Amino acid sequence: MTVFSEQANTTRCLLIASGKGGVGKSSISANLAVALADRGHSVAVVDADVWGFSIPRMLGVSDPPKAVGNKLLPPKAYGVQCISMGFFAEEDQPVIWRGPMLHKALQQFLDDVLWDDPDFLVVDLPPGTGDISISLAQFLPRSEVYVVTTPQPVAQSVAQRAAFMAKKVNLAVKGVIENMSWFTGDDGKRYELFGAGGGQALASKIDVPLLAQVPMVLAFREGADRGLPVLISSPDSEIAAVFRKLAERIDVELAPTRRYNPALKIVNS
Ligand SMILES: Nc1ncnc2c1ncn2[C@@H]1O[C@H](COP(=O)(O)OP(=O)(O)OP(=O)(O)O)[C@@H](O)[C@H]1O
Ligand SMILES: [Mg+2]
Repeated sequence: MTVFSEQANTTRCLLIASGKGGVGKSSISANLAVALADRGHSVAVVDADVWGFSIPRMLGVSDPPKAVGNKLLPPKAYGVQCISMGFFAEEDQPVIWRGPMLHKALQQFLDDVLWDDPDFLVVDLPPGTGDISISLAQFLPRSEVYVVTTPQPVAQSVAQRAAFMAKKVNLAVKGVIENMSWFTGDDGKRYELFGAGGGQALASKIDVPLLAQVPMVLAFREGADRGLPVLISSPDSEIAAVFRKLAERIDVELAPTRRYNPALKIVNS
């Protein structure tokens, strides 16, 4: 059984955050998770968007978790285990919960699910900077925050709020991911529909790397709706390469240097 907050736990928890909605957190969480699994890692996704869950649909998972004693065995798709409110609520029914209930739901997602000591736990956050971030900071105190933004210069100030939130709850922002960076037309030209430079500007402002620029691709949206991540449906596409590179950077370049397991000591011979 995995307890993510334990000192000896080595799972890297990646919180995918943004100041505003609809910028692509869920699509990026799902595809990043698949790309990390593709690198040979064990990966889990927690859909922390209790109201607006979208991970089961994006990963094409319809089987609910199986009960094993008083724990839940999470379903798996494309090598990724996942848990979501979507397994327990009807898609067209509202989830009307207040802070304490959300806190409890997240705690159950982390504690009452039979996670298999994953290398990575990708957490898809709801839009904004609310109660859930505070709860997660408490449950997963070593989380790394990744801020998703669009390229508009004005989107930056909103995205920056996610970085402020992280700082307030003592979590480290590790990088910025720019989404909807450009659209390549049939003429082969790149069109910057949402402007340019927002991701880099935000990254510079909060002093972290811009880790990826994800283009706008119709098949990406269609894949998200059909539960077919782009790494699976079109592994040779530009966007699949972007996700492989993003996964590599997070895995290699941003690998933590601190040793979390106090039982491990370097022995000089
Ligand atoms: N790069 C992209 N190219 C094409 N469509 C995209 C891209 N990124 C996201 N989308 C589409 O935009 C919509 C919003 O994306 P998504 O649900 O991932 O955003 P979100 O930030 O999780 O939204 P919310 O704040 O509501 O949780 C989805 O329909 C998704 O398929
Ligand atoms: Mg979402």
